[in-house]
Amino acid sequence: MTAAQPPAPGAETDYTAKVMARIDRLAAGLGPSLRGPVAALAANPGKNLRSGLLAACVGDAPVDPARLVRLGALVELVHLASLLHDDVVDRAALRRGRPTAHTLVGPERASLAGLAAFALAGTESAELGAGIDMLVSRTLRELAHGQLLDIERTFDTAYTLQDYLELIERKTGALFEMTCLLGAAEAARPEREVAALSLFGREFGIAFQVLDDCLDLAPGDLDKSVGTDHMLGLFGAPTLAALGGDGAEALAGLLLSPDFTAGDLPAVRSLVRASGGLDRAMELAGEHLDRARAALDEVAEDARTRVLAILAEVEPRL
Ligand code: IPE
Ligand code: MG
Ligand code: MG
Repeated sequence: MTAAQPPAPGAETDYTAKVMARIDRLAAGLGPSLRGPVAALAANPGKNLRSGLLAACVGDAPVDPARLVRLGALVELVHLASLLHDDVVDRAALRRGRPTAHTLVGPERASLAGLAAFALAGTESAELGAGIDMLVSRTLRELAHGQLLDIERTFDTAYTLQDYLELIERKTGALFEMTCLLGAAEAARPEREVAALSLFGREFGIAFQVLDDCLDLAPGDLDKSVGTDHMLGLFGAPTLAALGGDGAEALAGLLLSPDFTAGDLPAVRSLVRASGGLDRAMELAGEHLDRARAALDEVAEDARTRVLAILAEVEPRL
């Protein structure tokens, strides 16, 4: 194993560029029609939050820089693959400000490209060894289960926030947890810290997803489809919170109306806000962020500082 010095200033950007180059290289190994949607999404990256989080969990520990890049690419690939599938399932028109893959090549090709991206992550994890393949496989199972629960509960206005939290723990929390676990394990942190960082990842992932739901209620200059979730019967944390409180009947009546159209979305948003659903969901995100932060008490300073810096970037949105 090559020992690396702690990253110098600017090294994060270098790391991110290398992660992206690694994904490109892996995608290049796919046949042309599978490669297209994968390469297009990889060329238009999001925040690279997961690979950044993984490196943050490594902290100052001496690790093999090439393995670190491969691990970063692995978590971004799983995320990318899940988005290709998610946009098919959610019939979303936009992702990262551009038309989604399925609107360009059709749902069959987009889904199969997503499957190929999952397979690339599988090969990478098998090559990286030491239980990583098992961990990735377990995470993918959780992710698929969470996405399935999301479909099964459509138009269920009685779906509880508690059930919803379990759902998002699977569909979003599991990958964040795996990301932090991979970083902590690669850094050979003591078991106590690995467990704490895993818990951090799970709680942070849950908070992140609840916050994502809140954005749907307060659409600003977003780069992905919003509002469509209600049309599909996918009620996020603010709506579910509203459905569990005062004024639930009027809201449920509207959401379940056979004549419901996109024109009704402003009314849904007003009802959810007026009943305090949005506030409750923001509060919930805050509670999970607090739990995430508390888990970091167990973590050595080098990783804690970096992870907290990432948290600070997300928190102002609360
Ligand atoms: C999140 O699902 C994506 C995955 C967990 C695969 P959502 O449907 O809730 O998220 P966005 O809003 O499309 O990103
Ligand atoms: Mg979606
Ligand atoms: Mg979805």
